[in-house]
Amino acid sequence: MNILSHEICNEIDQWTAKFPKDKKQSAVLAALHIVQNHNDGWLRRELLDAVADYLEIPKMAVYEVASFYSMFDLKETGKYKINVCTNISCLLRGSEGVVKHFEKRLGISLGETTPDGKFTLREVECLAACVNAPVCQVLCKGKGDYQVDLTPEKIDTLLEGLK
Ligand code: FES
Repeated sequence: MNILSHEICNEIDQWTAKFPKDKKQSAVLAALHIVQNHNDGWLRRELLDAVADYLEIPKMAVYEVASFYSMFDLKETGKYKINVCTNISCLLRGSEGVVKHFEKRLGISLGETTPDGKFTLREVECLAACVNAPVCQVLCKGKGDYQVDLTPEKIDTLLEGLK
């Protein structure tokens, strides 16, 4: 039984149409994004299996992609995913303090979700916005924005604006 909704299948079909019929695997990244965005921002095992079945590819081909990229979550996350870059440019511009401030404000550590299910705080590699380090990315249902030149005051304003 296909557990992917009609809407999800239609979106995936738009991607598979871009590739030769025998190369549906090329749409696996797009398909995982679509499915994650429609399912509270994370991918449970049954959804990975459904993507594999829908694309007619081995389940392992989906698992290896979903587990490799940090943009896919294989366990439940908060409504807002806060991805703090701690790579070299951000580190040199104070990302340790950024992480500490988020942790203090949210009452959680990196990799954790607040008890109310609102925020998940994560450490990520370079977000390709080094010129504005330190940087974080805030995602909600797959959509989001970068927050740049972070300071404790900017973080406070950011968190107060996330309802
Ligand atoms: S090192 Fe942080 S955005 Fe590049």
